[in-house]
Amino acid sequence: MPITLSPLTPGFACEVGDVDLTRPLDDADLAAVRDAFARFAVLVFPSQDLTVEQHLAFARCFGTLERSVATVMPGETLRVSPEIADIANLTSDGRVWAKDHRLRLFQMGNRLWHTDSSFKQPTGCASLLYARSIAPIGGHTEFADLRAAWDALDEATRARADGLIAEHSLQFSRRRLGFADWSPQERVAFAPVARPLVRTIPESGRRSLYLASHIGRVRGLADDEAEALLARLVAHATERRFTYLHRWRVGDLVMWDNRCTMHRGTEFDDTRWPRDMQRATTSDVPDAFDDALRAAGYGTAAEDAARSTEAARAEAARAAA
Ligand code: OGA
Ligand code: MN
Repeated sequence: MPITLSPLTPGFACEVGDVDLTRPLDDADLAAVRDAFARFAVLVFPSQDLTVEQHLAFARCFGTLERSVATVMPGETLRVSPEIADIANLTSDGRVWAKDHRLRLFQMGNRLWHTDSSFKQPTGCASLLYARSIAPIGGHTEFADLRAAWDALDEATRARADGLIAEHSLQFSRRRLGFADWSPQERVAFAPVARPLVRTIPESGRRSLYLASHIGRVRGLADDEAEALLARLVAHATERRFTYLHRWRVGDLVMWDNRCTMHRGTEFDDTRWPRDMQRATTSDVPDAFDDALRAAGYGTAAEDAARSTEAARAEAARAAA
């Protein structure tokens, strides 16, 4: 039996049924999933019962898996394999964390509208988040369609945003929450990278905003001007008409396209209820932004990232001296 598609919204989120992700999909089913992913940008696969290996194997169908940011955070014991981003509120020995746990402060960033790994080179493409246990109340995930938001944007704002280059860093999104306690290695690992504010998704040809709480600067704009423009774009892109709220059930695997969506976790009592969510994320092609960055005069994305890393390294060495 081929997979079935049941749209949850007209063009953004879709449920995928009659599919068992514990086994490799045949070519026709995989092609159907890829098509659906290009048309919708959020796919929900309910009632899955996956081992970590099965989760990773399905994710690999969509590209090379990135390693989680926790792998560069010194002193953190990984609860899961390096290809899994641990979205749970659990300590490495499996207990619900305390209010002052360092990773808790850090993970609060997931409550801000963001896209995964826009601050990495290469950036994140597909994220596949799997629910092993959920909170009885709250702890939903909300998604915003940045293609639809672009389509609905007025001409003047489109003209203003198109061609602008933003700088993304994990340090910028965590700074919004007052988190600034970075080790020298983290400052280097999370040096800002340059990304266009507007992009085209190759599979669909659709134009999209590329926004995230990770953006901290827009090149060529004063900080106040940049912040005002970003705030307006994010407010527009997250209007109810562009969003879908996912209420989790245990066994849901939700897959989204980080190239053209933002998401955020909603509140829940995270020092009370265990919520064990695990994510695998694929990397986009490394040259996805080269044309946009060259057109703006910055060389390739890799070159720009290398310059930024070098500057952060020099800064860290100065601070240590
Ligand atoms: C993520 C994320 C939000 C949530 O997995 O990347 O941001 O609701 N999750 O857990
Ligand atoms: Mn995320």
